[in-house]
Amino acid sequence: MPEIYWDSKLYNEQHRFVSDYGADVLQWLAPQAGESILDVGCGTGDLAAKIQETGAIVLGVDASADMVELAKQNYPNIQFEQKDATLLDYNREFDAVFSNATFHWIENQRGLLKGIYKSLKHGGRLVAEFGGKGNIKSIVDAIENAAKQLYLEHRVISNFWFFPSIGHYAALLESTGFETEQIWLFERPTKLIGEDGMLNWINQFAQHAFIGLNEEEANAVTNLAIEILKPNYFKDSEWTADYKRLRIKAIKK
Ligand code: BEZ
Repeated sequence: MPEIYWDSKLYNEQHRFVSDYGADVLQWLAPQAGESILDVGCGTGDLAAKIQETGAIVLGVDASADMVELAKQNYPNIQFEQKDATLLDYNREFDAVFSNATFHWIENQRGLLKGIYKSLKHGGRLVAEFGGKGNIKSIVDAIENAAKQLYLEHRVISNFWFFPSIGHYAALLESTGFETEQIWLFERPTKLIGEDGMLNWINQFAQHAFIGLNEEEANAVTNLAIEILKPNYFKDSEWTADYKRLRIKAIKK
């Protein structure tokens, strides 16, 4: 997985939907007052704040120093730390681990799940939502198609995300020692803000696809991909991305 630079300002201004949509998964977490909860991939801290409002005590961790800085500014009463999610070093400290829109960025899923398992108290729960099988397929296809048309397909990497099926992820959870209590794959079309919504999305989230290209080539692929997507995904002056989520609840037995 290439190093990813998170533009926290662009994220905060354009991509707040990540936490707005993520609020729904909190119903599966059902945090209780007094519980200690680890938020893995906390981003700018919006969902950590919603969890802490219930009276639970939250620690938010994120690999991006920039995001952690912004989270601390946004929510000074919550504890945030910069930490790689595959190197969690907690020992039976948390009643629950929560994560939204993070797991699909992580290649080392075994390392991630082992660290989470060890972090949880016995009987503790993991509740997470992330991209599932088929997530943003139209965007990935459009980037590949554009690269092909411009004879750049060998220098564009479009399959760096991890979007597992229900079966694949349940097996991973269970081989780590978790019991899968609930698992759900569902479509969640996601509105992108403004006429440049798709451009901003690609610039923020898919920049590493173009690591092997110069700026001019990257812009050409991006612009052509946007043209390919436009007839189906730009309606009434609004872009939609074809998100598919995998939502899980698993218990440490
Ligand atoms: C997602 O939340 O599904 C996602 C976000 C950015 C890139 C890929 C997937």
